[in-house]
Amino acid sequence: MAPTSMKWDQNSLLENGFVRDEDERPKVPYNKFSNEIPVISLEGIDDVEGSDGVKSRRAEICDKIVKACEDWGIFQIVDHGVDARLLSEMTRLAKEFFQLPAEEKLRFDMTGGKKGGFIVSSHLQGETVKDWRELVTYFSYPIRARDYSRWPDKPNEWRSVTQEYSEVLMGLACKILEVLSEAMGLEKEALTKACVDMDQKVVVNYYPKCPQPELILGLKRHTDPGTITLLLQDQVGGLQATRDGGKSWITVEPIEGAFVVNLGDHGHYLSNGRFKNADHQAVVNSKSSRLSIATFQNPAPDAIVYPLKVNEGDKSIMEEPITFMEMYKKKMSRDLELARAKKLANEKEQDLEKVKPVENIFA
Ligand code: OGA
Ligand code: NI
Repeated sequence: MAPTSMKWDQNSLLENGFVRDEDERPKVPYNKFSNEIPVISLEGIDDVEGSDGVKSRRAEICDKIVKACEDWGIFQIVDHGVDARLLSEMTRLAKEFFQLPAEEKLRFDMTGGKKGGFIVSSHLQGETVKDWRELVTYFSYPIRARDYSRWPDKPNEWRSVTQEYSEVLMGLACKILEVLSEAMGLEKEALTKACVDMDQKVVVNYYPKCPQPELILGLKRHTDPGTITLLLQDQVGGLQATRDGGKSWITVEPIEGAFVVNLGDHGHYLSNGRFKNADHQAVVNSKSSRLSIATFQNPAPDAIVYPLKVNEGDKSIMEEPITFMEMYKKKMSRDLELARAKKLANEKEQDLEKVKPVENIFA
C-alpha cells in the first residue's frame, strides 16, 4: 500500500477521508482549558513518615491519585523528578524528526505491518475515517525486544535521548503503579507483577495544523488498551477527555514539564472497574501544529488479565481470565466492527435518500 500523501491541506482534508460524522466532531475548543482534571505534585512521594494524627506526604499523594483514578482515570503530575532538560530535548528532537523531508521519514515506513516506525494517520488497519496526524513509534521494553532498525536514527542525538527517556519513564510509571497497588490493599509490586514482564511502547504524535479543524479529529476517541500511559504534550492543547460516553468533553490544560497520566483497559480490569480507563481523543487547530509523546506501559502479551481484587459483595467484571493479547485483539475487532457498522448504516441512509419518491424530496 502506498503511503498516504503528507499534504496537510484543504484538498487532502476533503478528498482523503478525514471528515468525521457530525456526532464525532469536536464539541469543545482545543484551547478552552478545564481545571477538572487534577494536577498532583509528587514532591515527597517517598516520605512515608507521618506524625501524630498527620498523614504522611505519601499517604496524601496516594489519596489524590486514587480519587483521580476513581473519578476520571486521568490526571496530571508535576514535581515528578524527571529532569526538565530531558523533556525539552525529547520534545525538540521529536519536532525536528517531523520536519525532515518525507523520504527521510519514509525510510521507517510502517505500512504493510512493520513493527515500529513512521506512518500517517494510524498504525491500525481498516480505519474508516482517518486521523489528522503523523506518528513515529518504537518498542522500548523489554530491552531484548528492541529492534533499533525500526527506531528513528535522525536527528543524530535522538536515539540516545529516547533511550534515557524510556528508562526514566519506566521508573516513574512503576512508582505510580505502586501507589495504586497499595490503594487496592495489595503489596507494592502487585500491579507490575501482573504485567509479568512489562512492555513499553512510545508513540510520538505530530498533529499538523488544519484548515478546518471543526470537521476532523487528530486522534479519534478511544481508551488506551494497556495498564498506564504517560503523555508529554507541548503547550498548544488538544487532548480531551470525557466521562459520560462522549456527551461532554473537557480539554486538558497543558502545563510545562507535567505528564498527563491515564489508565488503560488493563488497569481498569485489574482494579475490577474501580479505576477508570480514561476515554479520550485529540483535536487539532488551524493556528499551529501540536506534538505529544505517549509512553504506553503494557503487560506482556501472554500475561493473564484478571481482577487482582474483587471486594466482598462485588462480582468480577471479567467473565473469564484471558491473555492481554486476546484482550487487545477483541478490543480492536470490536472497534473496527462498530466503525464498519456505522459506515454501512450511513451508506444505507444515503441510498434510501436516493430512492425517495420525487414528491417526498420536495415535502
Ligand atoms: C494516544 C493519545 C493524545 C494526545 O496517543 O493514545 O491518546 O494528546 N494521545 O496526543
Ligand atoms: Ni490514548
